[in-house]
Order: sequence, then C-alpha cells, then structure tokens
Amino acid sequence: MTRLILDVDTGIDDAMALLYACGSPEAEIVAVTCVGGNIGAAQVATNTRAVLELVGRDDVEVALGRERPLVRALEVAPETHGANGLGYAHLPAPAWPLSDRHAVDLLIDEARRRPGEVTLVTLGPLTNLAVALLREPELPRLFARWVLMGGSYRSPGNTAPTTEWNVHVDPDAAKVAFAAWTASAETHGHGRPTALGLDVTERAKITPEHVVALARRAGSTPDDLLSVERGEDLAHAAGSVASNPVIRFVADALRFYMEFHSRYDGFYGAFIHDPLAVAAALDPGLVRTEALTVDVELGGSLTTGETVTDWRRVWGRAPNLDVAVDADAATFLDRFVERVGGLAAEHANVAR
Ligand code: BDR
Ligand code: CA
Repeated sequence: MTRLILDVDTGIDDAMALLYACGSPEAEIVAVTCVGGNIGAAQVATNTRAVLELVGRDDVEVALGRERPLVRALEVAPETHGANGLGYAHLPAPAWPLSDRHAVDLLIDEARRRPGEVTLVTLGPLTNLAVALLREPELPRLFARWVLMGGSYRSPGNTAPTTEWNVHVDPDAAKVAFAAWTASAETHGHGRPTALGLDVTERAKITPEHVVALARRAGSTPDDLLSVERGEDLAHAAGSVASNPVIRFVADALRFYMEFHSRYDGFYGAFIHDPLAVAAALDPGLVRTEALTVDVELGGSLTTGETVTDWRRVWGRAPNLDVAVDADAATFLDRFVERVGGLAAEHANVAR
C-alpha cells in the first residue's frame, strides 16, 4: 500500500490523476491539498471535492492552500482547462466541507505524524510545498518520497519556449523546494525527488479511442463516443450522452482538453501529464530515471522558470533530481483505461 498526499491545481489532467489514484487498489489517499495554478485555489478545491464526490470519495480530506505564488502574480490557464478548470464538464457543487486545516499545515502535520510513510505527489505549482519547507526544513526526511510533475529537462517548454507550466507559474517555489531537498539529502542521505517533466509526460497521449475503451470498460452506453467527441453529432453541444456519470465527466472534460491540443499541439488527443506522475509514484518501474543536477532560472530575460539541467555535468555539483527520461506510456495508458474504467463501473448510478 502506498500512502499518498496529492497536491493539485485541478485542472483537467489533475482530475484524471485523482480518478487514477481512486481507482488504484495499492493507493491510500491520505489527503489532497490545493494550490492556485490552472485556476484559482478556491476553484481548485471545489473541483477537487466535486471529482472525489463523483466516485464516492467524500471521506478524503481536501485542504485549501496558497492562492498566489511566492512572489509573482498568479497566472491561470482557462484556454487550456476551461473557465472553471474542468473543460466542458459541470459537476454539482460538492456537498462536503473543506478541511479546517490549511494545506501547508496539513503537509507538515501529516509528514510529522507518519515519518517515512507518506509519498508526496505534486501536480501543480510548488507554492504549498515551498511554504511548508520554509516552516519545516525536515520535510524531505519526513516524507517517504516526493514525485513531481514539473519541468522540461531535455524538451521544449509548453508555456514559454523552455518552461513548463507548473514551474513557470511559481519558479521561486521550485527553487526553494529543490534547494531544501538538496540540503536535507546532504545531511540525512535520503533519496532524491523523482521529476516527471514534459520529456516523458508528453508521451502519455490520450485519444478518443481511449475514451471509447474507458466507456466499454465501464459498461457505459453508447460506448462509441467518437462521433460525439469529434463534433459529428450535435448532441455533444449539450455534453456527453454516456449513461455512466463518471464517463460523462471524463468525456466532457477531455473533449475540451483535446480541442486545446488539436489547436496547439497538432493532434486530436491530450497529454495527461498528472496521471502519469501518480502512476509512476505507485509503480516506479513505469519510468526510467537519470540522476541529474537541475536548477531553476529566476533571472532570465527569456527563460525564467526554465529547469536548467546539467546533462554534461559541467557544474560538478552532485545530482539533486531523478529525472524521468523514458516512460512505458503504453502500459500506463492501458492501466489508466483499466483503473478509471473500473472505477466508473463501480459508480454507474450517481445522479447527473
Ligand atoms: C502541467 O501544467 C498543468 O496545466 C497540468 O495540470 C500539468 O500539471 C503540465 O505542464
Ligand atoms: Ca496540474
């Protein structure tokens, strides 16, 4: 069993990551912490609870965290994730309350309460984690592991030419977090964080065919969503007509994300970055990593937020990140269909 705290900026692919975690028998979700990123933190917290409620997980503690990056103004991404962060999907407002703990307090409390037992997976900007580290520098020793979706190490960026969104939004926080882990590892000798950047997360390409497979796995009808997804059926204007509410959600959220990728990335499908990070946290064998020295550019005129990576080891500094350089995307996508489809099958009768 892997105990997880997920730090999210839900977000379409964060929502898929939450579903993947809920559908994974070896995952115990300790809590979910919310940070401003794809959308404001309050909406992130609403989206997160709504997604968890859709699959009956209103037992999970969800805590609101930092609204703004450490020192910069918050940027959000409605063109990528939609006005409310979930694409064309509209879930009912969650009926259960937020945690009365702040996300930063939760991260510190849970790490101290169960030293060495909780794996932290960050799927958004690193603001909550950076603030927690400034208050509790022992966190790297207290968490079992830190797996992050963030950075672009040997690939172009997706926000500026060399920067990936999560690091771009709060590069100062990324700098703080990487430095804190490095300092702690030097003292305590624990492992490095595992970083999944665009180099590998852009291999996790979900297509309409996967959505059909998900629907079939869930026993949802009609199972052929392709015509709907591709706009060949006017019914799509009112949203997916799938019988299963989880599949309706997935189809409506992903249709928006696929349209975005078709405009900017040249294919009708979507990179599901965040679920791959959760999958790799649960099964490290899904990625191959290389120990590398990485630092974050803060003062560039063009490159602020770049994860500068010392591939040729010219700095002579010890490696501080295990950077994913390869991923078994096919196995991951099969597992995504199996797990999220299976989860949907178990929640076929939730009212729309
Ligand atoms: C990351 O940015 C966000 O838009 C996604 O949710 C993902 O975490 C990819 O760069
Ligand atoms: Ca995210």
